[in-house]
Amino acid sequence: MAKVAFIGLGVMGYPMAGHLKAKGGHDVTVYNRTAAKADAWVKQHGGTSAPTPAEAAKGAEFVFTCVGNDDDLRSVTIGENGVLAGMAEGAILIDNTTASAEVARELYEAAAAKGCGFIDAPVSGGQAGAENGVLTVMCGGDEATFEKARPVIDAYARMVGLMGPAGAGQLTKMINQICIAGLVQGLAEGVHFGKRAGLDIEKVVEVISKGAAGSWQMENRHKTMNQDKYDFGFAVDWMRKDLDIVLTEARRNGAKLPVTALVDQFYGDVQAMGGNRWDTSSLLARLERK
Ligand SMILES: NC(=O)c1ccc[n+]([C@@H]2O[C@H](COP(=O)([O-])OP(=O)(O)OC[C@H]3O[C@@H](n4cnc5c(N)ncnc54)[C@H](OP(=O)(O)O)[C@@H]3O)[C@@H](O)[C@H]2O)c1
Repeated sequence: MAKVAFIGLGVMGYPMAGHLKAKGGHDVTVYNRTAAKADAWVKQHGGTSAPTPAEAAKGAEFVFTCVGNDDDLRSVTIGENGVLAGMAEGAILIDNTTASAEVARELYEAAAAKGCGFIDAPVSGGQAGAENGVLTVMCGGDEATFEKARPVIDAYARMVGLMGPAGAGQLTKMINQICIAGLVQGLAEGVHFGKRAGLDIEKVVEVISKGAAGSWQMENRHKTMNQDKYDFGFAVDWMRKDLDIVLTEARRNGAKLPVTALVDQFYGDVQAMGGNRWDTSSLLARLERK
């Protein structure tokens, strides 16, 4: 059992912190900007809440963050009252936010300057993965730090991998998003075509999902896409944030991502339709509702 702090009790962080307490058996202190969520978490899980990230991190061996973007992350880590102001030497900061590789390297250095470890640890598996404690966690950092953090991360994960030095977890998450972007557009076009052709989409997917076209998105999203339902899941706003990180990194490393760039614009169309919080499978709505 370890002393753990968790900063950011959103859709993902709330259940992840819950698993650290219930499944991991750790002593958890939480912080959330909107205090009502921290109060609700403590009421549901026990543990304690703190008024600032720095206070939450005091005395913790492991400090987790799961906030929105690079700037949010900087604010709760190196900002005034950020976790690094409260962390003791030897403590480890594990960041589950989907952010840039650049901010991961920056935080690695900032943590090292305080004698602390840092692991960038973005996740995949969505809200359901977080609630069921079966996330895939892509880590970057030093091996010795990773080995200490891994058994704690295990409380909310099914797959945890060290991909390389600081930033490598975020780079791996970028690949994850590149693979998803083109695939979801392909799936949307397939469903759209099937409807136009007058076929039973459920029947089509039952058959083709067992062949070479099968995917997580096909299995888990075809039903709701067929029903034109998008008010759940991984929000288009988040996907655009992720694709912006991806396209910025691609400009830096020279990778050619024509389809990813195009799908990013398609998500811009979905936002213009009012779909900011819709699930990413709403690329189909762009084809059908316009
Ligand atoms: N949702 C998914 O399916 C999914 C899947 C994989 C990865 N992710 C990534 O995981 C991260 C969190 O996603 P989420 O869905 O949990 O988001 P969310 O529900 O919007 O929660 C964001 C959390 O961060 C806090 N926060 C944001 N900005 C902050 C700031 N400047 N200072 C302090 N706290 C701040 C929010 O506090 P308040 O409560 O006060 O707003 C909230 O607790 C994102 O980077 C996202 O891309 C999400």
